[in-house]
Amino acid sequence: MSGERRIRVAVVYGGRSSEHGISVVSAGSVLGALDPEKYEVVQVGITPAGRWVLADADPASLQITGRSLPEVEKGTAVVLSTDPDSAGLVSVEPGSAVEALTSVDVVFPVLHGRYGEDGTIQGLLEMAGVPYVGPGVLASAAAMEEITKRLLRDAGLEVGAFAVLRRGRPYSVVDLADLGLPVFVKPARAGSSVGITKVTDWADLDEALEVAFAHDAKALVEAAVPGREIECGVLEDDDGQPEASLPAEIRLVRGHDWYDFEAKYLDDACEFDIPPDLPPDTIARIQDAACRAFTALECNGLARVDFFVTPDEKVVVNEVNTMPGFTSISMFPQMWAVSGVDYPTLVDRLIRAALRRET
Ligand SMILES: Nc1ncnc2c1ncn2[C@@H]1O[C@H](COP(=O)(O)OP(=O)(O)O)[C@@H](O)[C@H]1O
Ligand SMILES: [Mg+2]
Repeated sequence: MSGERRIRVAVVYGGRSSEHGISVVSAGSVLGALDPEKYEVVQVGITPAGRWVLADADPASLQITGRSLPEVEKGTAVVLSTDPDSAGLVSVEPGSAVEALTSVDVVFPVLHGRYGEDGTIQGLLEMAGVPYVGPGVLASAAAMEEITKRLLRDAGLEVGAFAVLRRGRPYSVVDLADLGLPVFVKPARAGSSVGITKVTDWADLDEALEVAFAHDAKALVEAAVPGREIECGVLEDDDGQPEASLPAEIRLVRGHDWYDFEAKYLDDACEFDIPPDLPPDTIARIQDAACRAFTALECNGLARVDFFVTPDEKVVVNEVNTMPGFTSISMFPQMWAVSGVDYPTLVDRLIRAALRRET
């Protein structure tokens, strides 16, 4: 690429969601994979309180150490200019003059959960007129909520039964009884299994709702779908069409009953099979359903579609993640690696898709 200006990528990570730490770890992998010959990287950390700071972390330091997750710390306060004519970062350090720092060609929001994967930062980036990796406002927002299930059902995909409850509004167990037990009680917008409780006795419902409502004013009560947990990566190809990876099965070991936070990140409690031990026809149906989900939600760039495959091999969508875990050992990059797309290529393809996209 000699002679050509490198693409200036702002990698934005951390953020206000309960998945702050996971985002920082994901960003460590992305930063480590961006080819310095092609990309000029600007790091923007968002503190748990929501302050944007210019960061300069060594990617290798953005890791889980023991059982503790990394966090974005202090730095020069910056904002993204929302003036599309000067799309870039502006220093707003208290006590110093406001100063334009650098323009940005593309933003890679390596952010999970609320204020990152839910359409909010996507809206800000649209305002600023800066291309960005991943789905847009509508898909990001819809995928974050139970709205996903309605859109997917409408597109002919199978989803589990669920009810929506709101903080402070009355509800009756009688209305929920049809869901059967157990149920999973979840904040409508969270991730990494934060705030989720498996309820096996209706007497425990109130407590589970309290936990969910601590994270969101809206909660879901979902019928438990029996079956194996299968995930599938979707990536936009160079013609803008969705392409599915080989799926993965997550098998829990060491006594975990479901895929909770500890099982996901801390306890080394999962084993993965890529591809899963399923008939080729079932794998093909999973891949087809993943692409259809991507299209139904009008995603761009990437998505990870998570399924339950029931004992009679029905393919039921659990959720769609528009910025799935992106650490080098996360499912999304792993599925693509086995499908022949290594991590640096994945990052290249996503940035290419972002720059190609028309709004
Ligand atoms: N309806 C359900 N039936 C069975 N297991 C579920 C259900 N909902 C959630 N789970 C379990 O909880 C985990 C986390 O739930 P999920 O909806 O995927 O939330 P998150 O967005 O936090 O990953 C799932 O991977 C699965 O193990
Ligand atoms: Mg999940």
